[in-house]
Amino acid sequence: MDSRREFLKNSAMVGAALSASGTANLANAQDSRVQLPTPRALQLMSFFGLKYPIFQAPSNGAGPDLTASVSSAGAMGILRGTRLTPEDARKAVTIVRARTQRVFAVNYILAFEPDSLPAVLEAGAPALHFSWGLPTKEMISVMRSAGAKFGVQVASAIGAQSALDLGADYLVCQGIEAGGHVQSSTALYELLPKVLERAQSTPVLAAGGIGHGRKIREALLAGASGAMLGTRFVANARESRAPRVQESPYQVHRERNDHVGMLSGRVAGRYASLAAQLDSGALGGGWLSAGWPTAGRR
Ligand SMILES: Cc1cc2nc3c(=O)[nH]c(=O)nc-3n(C[C@H](O)[C@H](O)[C@H](O)COP(=O)(O)O)c2cc1C
Repeated sequence: MDSRREFLKNSAMVGAALSASGTANLANAQDSRVQLPTPRALQLMSFFGLKYPIFQAPSNGAGPDLTASVSSAGAMGILRGTRLTPEDARKAVTIVRARTQRVFAVNYILAFEPDSLPAVLEAGAPALHFSWGLPTKEMISVMRSAGAKFGVQVASAIGAQSALDLGADYLVCQGIEAGGHVQSSTALYELLPKVLERAQSTPVLAAGGIGHGRKIREALLAGASGAMLGTRFVANARESRAPRVQESPYQVHRERNDHVGMLSGRVAGRYASLAAQLDSGALGGGWLSAGWPTAGRR
């Protein structure tokens, strides 16, 4: 990852003068009066003590090594918590904490029971990151008692509002361009303004098809507080369960079409789109209840 100085230098004096509310849109990108990171990005960075307005998306390959490395570098590392036993989750959090003093989060896909949530809080996880659903009030109360922050990945304005009503500290706005099991059925830059309008001063990160600095800058100029990158980190993760993805996600995609659950919409937009359609855009839709079948078995 580039140094913070490089980020600031590369990002400086581009894009938009933010509006008074701190939001912007892509049309503003011609205006060169505003420096990056934007005020909204700085707010996010200050809230979590980050050097970069970048979150590493959770994935199966996001174990303690990746999470600790990302957090040590000054971005937000997010550890997989979904479907880990309390013992394994506690161990993973302990490893990350031993390797970095910096903030990190633990992810729960709420299509599954977050059985290990109390264990990761006991182990000292400073933040929780949820997707595919909303935490219950009981979960929030346990998290707050432990002093943990939490955020929610959302795929609609209504979903954003529900997360805000629960007091989420940040939102991730996922566009259909995203890799993984895509919640969204809307293009990122169509959805982002709607989520920003609801979020007001709550930080909103953009996710979906963002894999390099120019795209991060684009997201910040569109009003996002930061960017969440999934495929980009999976491609770098030594722990990834998909070694061939590390070699060349693009090549894998040219060869096969069963990596909907693996890679970015930037790489395989049409497959991600197919996944979203299969899931009918709803939590617990047909694709989920069928056990997330791969291509050829759908
Ligand atoms: C291989 C892979 C696995 C993923 N697994 C998860 C996951 O376990 N939980 C989750 O909340 N999001 C997961 N995601 C989705 C990310 O949260 C994020 O929305 C997405 O990676 C952003 O798009 P990008 O891959 O184009 O950067 C995954 C994404 C990828 C690529």
